[in-house]
Amino acid sequence: MADMQIDPAGLDPRAVYRLMISVIVPRPIAWVSTVSPDGVPNAAPFSYFQALGGKPPMVMIAVGDRRTGEHKDTRRNIEATGEFVVNMVSEDSGPAMVKCSVDHPYEVSEFEEAGLEAIPSERVGPPRIGQSKVSLECKLDRVLEIAGSGICIGEVVLFHLTDDLLDENGLVDADRLNPLGRLGGSGYSTLRERIAIDATGAVETLTSSKLDLWREFRERSIAMARKLSAEQLADGSGQILRHLAACTAFRVLEWEGRTDEEAACDWDASWTAERIVAELEADRDAFLVACRTAPRDQMWKLDRMIRHEAWHQGQIGMIHRGAFGESDLWRA
Ligand SMILES: Cc1cc2nc3c(=O)[nH]c(=O)nc-3n(C[C@H](O)[C@H](O)[C@H](O)COP(=O)(O)O)c2cc1C
Repeated sequence: MADMQIDPAGLDPRAVYRLMISVIVPRPIAWVSTVSPDGVPNAAPFSYFQALGGKPPMVMIAVGDRRTGEHKDTRRNIEATGEFVVNMVSEDSGPAMVKCSVDHPYEVSEFEEAGLEAIPSERVGPPRIGQSKVSLECKLDRVLEIAGSGICIGEVVLFHLTDDLLDENGLVDADRLNPLGRLGGSGYSTLRERIAIDATGAVETLTSSKLDLWREFRERSIAMARKLSAEQLADGSGQILRHLAACTAFRVLEWEGRTDEEAACDWDASWTAERIVAELEADRDAFLVACRTAPRDQMWKLDRMIRHEAWHQGQIGMIHRGAFGESDLWRA
């Protein structure tokens, strides 16, 4: 395999940024709440976020400046008050978190703009975000100036966890927290599958919600297909969308462990009421052929469109493309 080398020294800073955010993935997201000296609450996400140590517990976020060179509100508030709260982001709070990354004027509170519930903190002034299952109340330790960012290091003085989070070993149950990770661009990863790797290198699958993912995707595809007009259904994109819906349905049944023939029967039985499926039944062979032969870029365009739509409706998290696996999706 060719070894592509990129020397950051000769690169445009924007390109370096794009490399950094897509190479170091997935990143946890700190949804940071602060308050201005005038008492205006602020919330913004930061994925340059890490735990630094445990005695005492310390965390850091790296807050870059705005293009104008001004400090972001989060940094201004942290430096002015010495306090902040790190709220963790679960899959269902993804859309609200992203709304908080919009550059609002200093006097505008993201709590109101994004419909966040502000819960008073115990040890610090900034409220915590009610939508989060975990919040860390932090006191500022120091701000380091590194690579054009203010690295805000804070000591966690109080942890808040919802009642149902801890398992019997005292660890936060990852499935219940269901954290969202940041990928490059507008991509996020969710916990769809968890594995354990022991010291010998043996791998065990702990949980897999791939089937749920397929089901969700099937429903989205069908919802989108239903929105298409008759004309659209007749043209190329409509055709592919119908095929997409059918293909995912087919795959769901396969994941459930049926043989192709059984799957096809079940499919007839449960879906005949649906107009779209009736259409598909009429030319099952044709759509399977089309699924196999449709241009890949068109397929991906649709795939992105559907997920984008669902994301905007706040119904699913943005799902990392790799979670589907190109070959999985289209090898009907
Ligand atoms: C998921 C996500 C992660 C982000 N991570 C960072 C980050 O690590 N550092 C940063 O400066 N901006 C980051 N941003 C952008 C800020 O959230 C954005 O600039 C925001 O408007 C800052 O708000 P503020 O001015 O209220 O502090 C991120 C945005 C998103 C959606």
